[in-house]
Amino acid sequence: SLSLGSLGDRTGVRIGTAVDMAALAADAPYKAAAATEFSSVTPENVMKWESVEPTRGSYTWAPADQLVAFARANHQLVRGHTLVWHSQLPGWLTAGSFTPDELRDILHRHITDEVGHFRGQIWQWDVVNEAFNDDGTLRNSIWLQELGPGYIADAFRWAHEADPKAKLFINDYNIEGVNAKSTALYDLVSRLRAEHVPIDGVGVQGHLDVQYPAPHDIADNLGRFDELGVQTAITEADVRITMPVDNTEREAQAEAYSVLLQGCLLTEHCTDFTVWGFTDKYSWVPGVFTGEGSANLFDENYRPKSAYTAIRQDL
Ligand code: XIL
Repeated sequence: SLSLGSLGDRTGVRIGTAVDMAALAADAPYKAAAATEFSSVTPENVMKWESVEPTRGSYTWAPADQLVAFARANHQLVRGHTLVWHSQLPGWLTAGSFTPDELRDILHRHITDEVGHFRGQIWQWDVVNEAFNDDGTLRNSIWLQELGPGYIADAFRWAHEADPKAKLFINDYNIEGVNAKSTALYDLVSRLRAEHVPIDGVGVQGHLDVQYPAPHDIADNLGRFDELGVQTAITEADVRITMPVDNTEREAQAEAYSVLLQGCLLTEHCTDFTVWGFTDKYSWVPGVFTGEGSANLFDENYRPKSAYTAIRQDL
């Protein structure tokens, strides 16, 4: 039967997955599914700052290069993830160790070097990740504290200089529906576009939990970004469940995946739908959300769940 990627081709939406490089190296069924089922890939961790520059001034590109080579071999596009974030920073990068001017140079160099290293090979970059609080104010990250709110526009300008063809995204969670956070993001993107800052898209992570209702106004939310002239994408879809899982929850999960995907399918310039891993075997969920799991399309033995069937039917 057709892969998710091929089904997505018919509607013009790429279907991607986050890839865990350790699993890719060690687990043949994982590698086979990652290679055949999807038409784009996102590195789950290996392009983050702590991974690429664990020691100041010395880069570790090999694992990320391997993912880019894997994608090329399998005719997949790559979402670069992520350049400017408050989390998974290298241990040497702390506010107390540098002046604001030094931090600005460090950030500029990081973006220039990383985007430059992969120039021509990245389809979409998550340039800025999780910059907002849920109430719509900017997150009080090292970047906001030390550089002020202009760090966002600067990051996009620097990334564009380093790879003019890559599509540049701002990415966040809890922005699926219309709410304070997604509206603040909408206002920011509107201002950046008016100022000719090179921003091309908005990534909606899509980390849902079956115990909360799935937002049914995703297309309304994404549609207003169409009007700003930017693309949208669901970038990290998963739907977690409090363990143990029953059948009702499994069906609710399928419905939630479907709501996310349909939000994208109904939006003219929604270009891709990426799941944050495809098997429960390597999910980030149990390690972060106590007592929760089973968030992916396939179980730990690669058996497809109702969610997988639902996604296929939607495409
Ligand atoms: C997560 C990874 O899945 C984990 O392996 C890692 O330990 C922490 O980060 N939002 C993001 C992703 O943008 O980068 C995060 O990925 C999940 C939440």
